[in-house]
Amino acid sequence: MSMITLALSKGRIFDETLPLLAAAGITVTEDPEKSRKLILPTNQPDVRVVLVRATDVPTYVQYGGADLGVAGKDSLIEHGGQGLFRPLDLQIAKCRVSVAVRAGFDYQGAVTQGSRLMVATKYTSIARDFFASKGVHVDMIKLYGSMELAPLTGLADAIVDLVSTGNTLRANHLVEVEQIMDISSHLVVNQAALKLKQAPLKRIIDAFASALPQG
Ligand code: PRP
Repeated sequence: MSMITLALSKGRIFDETLPLLAAAGITVTEDPEKSRKLILPTNQPDVRVVLVRATDVPTYVQYGGADLGVAGKDSLIEHGGQGLFRPLDLQIAKCRVSVAVRAGFDYQGAVTQGSRLMVATKYTSIARDFFASKGVHVDMIKLYGSMELAPLTGLADAIVDLVSTGNTLRANHLVEVEQIMDISSHLVVNQAALKLKQAPLKRIIDAFASALPQG
């Protein structure tokens, strides 16, 4: 009996993956919000969950630290997707990647005049491709969090960040000026594990597929 390791990130992805795990008969027996543990047991002795940062899920699965994982499309694009089999769009943790600026900033003027735009973001690949497709020159500033602060402090003209309800932008007097892409979370599987642990992984993939809205 080989161990199956599933990589998840705490928060929306963890919470919204639980019903899919239930469809596979898997229950996580510890609450990550109440425990400091990074490896969580399940009701099935051969299935465990490892908690990693959302951006690290593709890396864990790529190198076999986990056999499978749930990762946002944003994290998958930034990672590049090497070594990953991506069988399912799980349609969970939906949001979008958008450009936002300080209220009052002339974004249309800044991008049509062809002047350089200072962009702060955690999503440098997505931002680089997007502005390149518009022919806008950008000076990219890589950040790891609290991107909303960048336009407010003069660090950047614009940010590229995830938007869900828009509450975070509103609370910081920022305006969403362009939507770059819709995001949802995908199931990713290590390609070697898919061969070596074919039966148990296929069982989980099929159960997840049957629990999706389109059946
Ligand atoms: C994301 C994003 C925004 C927020 C947007 O952060 O970076 O800060 O959610 O959501 P809203 O439009 O509903 O306000 P997340 O909570 O995923 O965590 P992070 O800051 O670690 O990226």
